Amino acid sequence: MKKEPILQIRQITKTFGSTKALMDVSIDFFPGEIRGLIGENGSGKSTVSNIIMGVHEPDSGKMLLKGSIYVPGNMMDAIEHKICMVVQEMATINNLTVAENIFLGLEKQFAKNGVVDKKQMNQKAKRVLEQVSLENVKPTTNVNSLSFEDRKLLEVGRALYSNPDILIVDETTTALSQRGRTIMYEVMHRLADEEKCVICISHDIEELMEHADGVSVMRDGHFVRTVAKKDLDESLLKSLMIGRELGEHYYRDNFEAHKCEEIVLKVENLCFEGLVRHVSFDLHKGEILGIGGLTDCGMHQLGRMIFGIDKPDQGKVTLTAANQQIKNPQCAVKNKMAYLSKNRDQEALMLNSTIQENICLSSMDKLKKGIFVLPGHEKRLAKEKGTLMNVKMSGVNQTVSALSGGNKQKVVIAKWLANDSEVLILDCPTRGIDIGVKASIYRLMEQLTAQGKSIIMISEEMPELIGMSDRIIVMKDGKISGTFRRSAELGEQDIISCMI
Ligand SMILES: Nc1ncnc2c1ncn2[C@@H]1O[C@H](COP(=O)(O)OP(=O)(O)O)[C@@H](O)[C@H]1O
Ligand SMILES: [Mg+2]
Repeated sequence: MKKEPILQIRQITKTFGSTKALMDVSIDFFPGEIRGLIGENGSGKSTVSNIIMGVHEPDSGKMLLKGSIYVPGNMMDAIEHKICMVVQEMATINNLTVAENIFLGLEKQFAKNGVVDKKQMNQKAKRVLEQVSLENVKPTTNVNSLSFEDRKLLEVGRALYSNPDILIVDETTTALSQRGRTIMYEVMHRLADEEKCVICISHDIEELMEHADGVSVMRDGHFVRTVAKKDLDESLLKSLMIGRELGEHYYRDNFEAHKCEEIVLKVENLCFEGLVRHVSFDLHKGEILGIGGLTDCGMHQLGRMIFGIDKPDQGKVTLTAANQQIKNPQCAVKNKMAYLSKNRDQEALMLNSTIQENICLSSMDKLKKGIFVLPGHEKRLAKEKGTLMNVKMSGVNQTVSALSGGNKQKVVIAKWLANDSEVLILDCPTRGIDIGVKASIYRLMEQLTAQGKSIIMISEEMPELIGMSDRIIVMKDGKISGTFRRSAELGEQDIISCMI
């Protein structure tokens, strides 16, 4: 027996100013399924979910919920219709307890004679926490003391409390550890087993292939097609997403040895709290030096030390041309070094500031005339670098928090390009972003090194390390455990054997 769809979106079009976010999009969602929703950054996935949630009103088209016309006026309205969403950004409120966050806006349920019965509320919160494997979290804890991951799981618990028929999870899993992902997918499967519908927006094709019952692909505001579970195939999905086959040119295609011997940066005997142990290497002009290993091998810590964020217990980092030792980030920026943090939302961007403010932040010295910053120059620089990076934006005055993950990453890179950085430390530069933006970051890295700039790329992705680096340093337990030169013969296994 064929199931009736629970939610149908029909010929929906949505524009934001001159941006056509959705064009004539029609998709059916069914009860009892986990439906993946995939597409490059800016393809319209979040706009679809925001329309379902009543956050945006479509310009035209309609939605049917269990066969009846559905016109959500706002998010509360959607929740009353038993549709909930978990978003990518942090959505818990600081300085409230865990229980207060779960029942925000619902306190009335616990009120007796106008006074909220905290005890009852905390008891109920405990049961919500159990559903997302947060048994160890106390309802009375201030949420500030929870990790990002636990706060995300808390949001899932909050959504579950409304007993939704449809749960939308918008790019949440990418930011989680394996443990968090496992819990999330357990919840999703449980809902699907109960004949609910889960819409899961993710960049992780492998993960979707494992868990989803079907994957709908979006491209440039259009719905392309829904691929059924039995037909799911990585290269099919990728080609549907980008509308062409992924060419040979995804990574660098030449395997010639890097020739320039000029040393730009010297790392000598760096040690940090047992996490990094006696690491030394040279970085050459125009080189991409990959650093790989397991997450906790010390490579992320090493990147922070090279940029002067953390002070080493021993050893030093020197820019050779100026014979300048890097002691703090201010000194690094002044000497045209750049650092892209792995946690771009928390460390690399001021989310509530504009694209222009973010791009120009590290270039204030350059923009100053005497003690004044010339606003015209600031705008011009932001526009130039933003456009160079092809940031999808309505203008440089747009707030960064509204951008998609890949576009946020482009803003971070634009910020460092504006500063004419000569040495770039990129920690997981393509983490959590889709293949289209990834490819453009790889092309940019090639352009930069062709201009004589040097890059240290810390990465957890084997193909990226092999595909992009002139040289690869592998770390294990804080030490260098292997070094490889660029070669067409180098395989993942060679590197893995040094990692573990
Ligand atoms: N509130 C908004 N204001 C202006 N433009 C927006 C807004 N939300 C989304 N857009 C634009 O609509 C397009 C689709 O965005 P989005 O749905 O967020 O894509 P995705 O989630 O697939 O990355 C993008 O070009 C984006 O910049
Ligand atoms: Mg999105």
